[in-house]
Amino acid sequence: MCGIVGYIGKNEKKEVILNGLKELEYRGYDSAGMAIYDGVELRHFKAVGKLENLSSKMSDFTSAGAGVAIGHTRWATHGKPTEINAHPHLGEYSFVIHNGIIENYKELKTELEKAGVRFVSQTDTEVIVHLFEFYNKSASSPFEAYEKTISRLQGAYATLLITKAAPNVVFFAKNAAPMIIGQSGDEFYFASSDAPLIGLCDSAIYLDDGCYGFADTSGNLKIFDSDKKPFNKAPTALSKDKGYAQKGGYRFFMEKEIYEQSAVASECLMGRISGDEVCLDIDESVLESRDEVVLCACGTSYHAALTASYLLERLAKIRTKVEIASEFRYKSPFLNKNALFVVISQSGETADTLEALKIAKNAGLKSLAICNVDNSSIVRLADAVLLTRAGIEKGVASTKAFATQVLVLWLLALRLAKMRNTLSPSEFSSETEALRGIPAVLNFAPALQERIYRICKHYLHGHGFFFIGRDIFYPLALEGALKLKEISYLHAEGYPSGEMKHGPIALADSGLYTIALLPSTCLYDKAISNAQELAARDAFITAISPEPFELADDYIATSKHSHMMSEFFEMMVVLQLLALEISVRLGNDVDMPRNLAKSVTVE
Ligand code: G6P
Repeated sequence: MCGIVGYIGKNEKKEVILNGLKELEYRGYDSAGMAIYDGVELRHFKAVGKLENLSSKMSDFTSAGAGVAIGHTRWATHGKPTEINAHPHLGEYSFVIHNGIIENYKELKTELEKAGVRFVSQTDTEVIVHLFEFYNKSASSPFEAYEKTISRLQGAYATLLITKAAPNVVFFAKNAAPMIIGQSGDEFYFASSDAPLIGLCDSAIYLDDGCYGFADTSGNLKIFDSDKKPFNKAPTALSKDKGYAQKGGYRFFMEKEIYEQSAVASECLMGRISGDEVCLDIDESVLESRDEVVLCACGTSYHAALTASYLLERLAKIRTKVEIASEFRYKSPFLNKNALFVVISQSGETADTLEALKIAKNAGLKSLAICNVDNSSIVRLADAVLLTRAGIEKGVASTKAFATQVLVLWLLALRLAKMRNTLSPSEFSSETEALRGIPAVLNFAPALQERIYRICKHYLHGHGFFFIGRDIFYPLALEGALKLKEISYLHAEGYPSGEMKHGPIALADSGLYTIALLPSTCLYDKAISNAQELAARDAFITAISPEPFELADDYIATSKHSHMMSEFFEMMVVLQLLALEISVRLGNDVDMPRNLAKSVTVE
């Protein structure tokens, strides 16, 4: 995910920007750059890969003297992670950095090209700097040109611009992407989150959507709101603890990552749905003429694969198999050359999944990786890649990575459905409408967490948990049980609801906790009957459902939705919070549970 840092002041600007970007490294990036005006010259530097590469490119450069600087870490969305595509983007005499996606960049680009502007990168961002210089030809001031520029942008942006036309100024704007400004004496700091500002300023102004303005080396700061009226929000005190800031004020990374799911879902979908079309950022030749999909993964990613198998067969009507990578490797699998081999991995380094991918490639199958880490081993090896764009996930128990994996797999199922013509236009548009609504579904009120915390005290004893569900709620039940196991160390199983009567029901008594997923959009009556069978054997039942269940000992109400995937994502959050709060009550290390690793590079 892109990171933004800006600075106005007399200190060594290169160091301020590099240190600030370092604080944002945890978000993940594939290139970095900065532009600096040191009172004499406007210079810029870019490098692919880690910040050290940028730093060593700049080793002979110093930037003493009052001036301005902007720096950026880029997580590629439009165009490959190359130096040309790295920010800052250059016009003739100005530089811009940006986080977000300018949705109307194509039409702005065409307009500017007609006016003779030449573009060099594949990014959406570059239009901002050219638009600014275009308007600056006729505007009465650079600020007027900037104001006009911002008024033309649609989509998400946090952006900073510096220019020879106003060399002591940083112009800024924010919409649907975070941007904060801190002031210390006549120095200003800008950043896309508070971590780079900790220790440099005591407080910062969190800009609202639609805000824009400028600051300069004379200590002036002007901020306007979306109605062009002065914006006078009081600064908010900043934490003094960097670790706390990185956790965004949450107690645990896992907790922060659960709350982040709404925002990362938006990032994940950005540019991938347009009207009623699904547009995948891959060379689609890997998808053509496939008659089967084989999904292969481990752990939580395997649960995303299982979920996808229902979506692929139901929506794209394509035969789908799911393989646990460690099993696949040694079973002498029968491989069909016309199958698409999809590996799913948050880390991109899981040894079993990587080896499975090698086996499929050697057998001549086309491969697609769904991964959260660009340039990881799995990404480098696969024929095509869809990044999940969840940002770095620090909690060992995967949450937002899983959510975005399922989203990408749902997009893939829809793209294949379109190519295979298996859905009617109205069925297709109800899918894209539901997809668009997922960021809102993932946005939950803290009251849900409080309720779950309260009921969790019931679950600290007993002899085990069964998470049960049907259809896509069965892999979700598996994932709920895995989350609980990973961080509570309690015994938990996921099971298909209808399968309980074939054995596990023998365990039912008042010490058996059953977490029953009872969505109203998917086999509700059947799932209720299965829960009743357990209640009749005195199992402790926790119903998660939009409908109250009279036999439940505990009930967590979810919202009514018309699409089963909306219910899936809402229930996913409930299960994540349940695992988190049980773990908290047991006093466990939520982010680093015993015996587990985030990236498993051994077999
Ligand atoms: C480890 C992690 C799990 C993850 C699994 C697969 O066990 O702790 O959270 O689901 O590996 O990892 P991958 O990176 O391939 O998704």
